[in-house]
Amino acid sequence: MGVFRNLEAYLQALERRGELKRIRVPVSSELEITEIADRMVKTGGPALLFETVVGKDFPVAIGLFGTRERTAFALGVRDLDELSEKVARLLELKPGRGGISALMGLLPKLPLLRGFFPRWVGRAPVQEVILKGEAVDLFRLPILKCWPLDGGPFLTLPLVITKDPETGELNVGMYRMQVLDKRSTAMHWQLHKVGRQHLEKARKLGKKLEVAVALGGDPILTYAATAPLPPLPGVSEFHLAGFLRGAPLELTRGVTVDLPVPAEAEFVLEGYIDPEEPLVEEGPFGDHTGFYTPVDLYPRFHVTAITHRKRAIYPATIVGVPPMEDAYLIEASERLFLPPLRLILPEVVDYHMPPEGVAHNWVNVALRKAYPGQAYKVAYGMLGLGQMMFAKVIVAVDGDVPVKPGFQALLEALKHALPGRDTLLLRGPMDVLDHSSRGFAFGGKLILDGTRKLPEEGGEGPFTPRAHQELPHEPEVVAQRQWPGIWGVALRKERPGQAWALAERLLKAPQSTGIRLLLLADHDVLLTPEEVLWAVLNNIDPERDARVMPGVEGPVLVLDGTRKFSEEGFDRVWPERIRMDPRIKALVDSRWEEYGL
Ligand SMILES: Cc1cc2nc3c(=O)[nH]c(=O)nc-3n(C[C@H](O)[C@H](O)[C@H](O)COP(=O)(O)O)c2cc1C
Repeated sequence: MGVFRNLEAYLQALERRGELKRIRVPVSSELEITEIADRMVKTGGPALLFETVVGKDFPVAIGLFGTRERTAFALGVRDLDELSEKVARLLELKPGRGGISALMGLLPKLPLLRGFFPRWVGRAPVQEVILKGEAVDLFRLPILKCWPLDGGPFLTLPLVITKDPETGELNVGMYRMQVLDKRSTAMHWQLHKVGRQHLEKARKLGKKLEVAVALGGDPILTYAATAPLPPLPGVSEFHLAGFLRGAPLELTRGVTVDLPVPAEAEFVLEGYIDPEEPLVEEGPFGDHTGFYTPVDLYPRFHVTAITHRKRAIYPATIVGVPPMEDAYLIEASERLFLPPLRLILPEVVDYHMPPEGVAHNWVNVALRKAYPGQAYKVAYGMLGLGQMMFAKVIVAVDGDVPVKPGFQALLEALKHALPGRDTLLLRGPMDVLDHSSRGFAFGGKLILDGTRKLPEEGGEGPFTPRAHQELPHEPEVVAQRQWPGIWGVALRKERPGQAWALAERLLKAPQSTGIRLLLLADHDVLLTPEEVLWAVLNNIDPERDARVMPGVEGPVLVLDGTRKFSEEGFDRVWPERIRMDPRIKALVDSRWEEYGL
């Protein structure tokens, strides 16, 4: 169970486990690598090292976190659940009554913090080669153009290091970067993120913000940059990485910026963002929602120096229609933050963000309920915690119900959730990537209380979930399917309001008995639980698109997950779903033998 000094050590370890494949024939960084990597991640295949990339100077490593097991291996644990145990041990402070005995009680915790503080080193492998000014050329790096409609090549695994201009606190965040020219990129730190706050402070102080971007290093640090670390004074993602490694991370000073950079990284891009400069157009980008995010304005990062190892490897990931490897990084955060969540909400037994909910769209939470309304208390509490504020749909179940797989928990919840009585609409901040919300980064939320109901809550009623085989014929319905309690329908939508009219007709049919949730999706959505939930949860603002309608047996929660028209009160851009160009698919099919996979 290793802690990896750097990316190369990790790749060697993967190779020994038979989890790394080298592709020796030349491949293109435009779309071809994406298509190969997408096939691998969707089938649980190995990580890939593309040794020769057409027209580029460095190899590409991809799929570093391509399976749940590999992600655990990268993070130095046997199973991601061990992350919860590790943090729980740290938080179990029983320091005694005070005085010396209190301190003695804390001593056993010290080994847990063995790697917490980074170590400074003078000579750093990442500074073996130093390129400054005119010598900087981002086009030498094999930066991927991931999807056909992407606005250009994007760095997808960057560790963006900044310092708070007021407090000096450090932050490491993963924010994608679109290459604009040889020496500049866009910096996609979204509205709510820490790097963005640092720039806003620099603006107020009338200063430029120094930025260093590391690529590679111990995969634990790569993960740490994605973790929603709360603002703890003096604690950065470097400390989190050190804690998880159990050995200090080695840092060195940037060559041209006053920022610490990981000594064992493959590359570091150094430079600055000038808050006075006009913003640049960023995007479109095939995002982890499975849709393209449209063009928006973000700041320009000027690269004044690149340092790298002599034989550097460029690390990348692709995001897109789930499951992709970011699902496992998200699961790692989910496990890591369970113990602190339980400190604040002790009745929580477990929670889960199913991959088809792309983190922000869907959270299942299991709680030990002792009093009426407690599921709402937990949901409100979660919505107030860091990036959990983005959650769009929260499904609460009793503590004895497993929260995963997500769909099974939803089926259980529906047994105890009477639509209307046990569903609640709210409003709040939304993930910037959400395309369906009423406004940018602002929208509706839905709580579904699927815990067993106490008398004060109306009690448990008789309900038997059912799935019918024969379903009613409706002209616009392309496909439909029922699971016990859930009815999924794909329809060809041509008019505003069509989905609601269809729902009304469907719910009059006897096949609505035993159904509590009707999911309406567009005609091209496959009716597997994963795909229909992915599509519907992406495409709803619950305030606008969730209604409780009468069925034959009782109320039914209807979610209109179809594409919205402007007549339906939607005035934003409706994005394209990500799809690979068929010509690239054909190319990859024809070269498959050559790749040796
Ligand atoms: C592969 C990947 C790409 C990401 N890209 C972005 C991005 O472009 N912009 C962004 O704001 N967050 C992005 N995130 C999410 C952030 O890394 C995450 O919210 C992190 O906690 C932010 O750190 P911060 O709280 O220090 O700002 C990405 C996450 C992953 C796993």
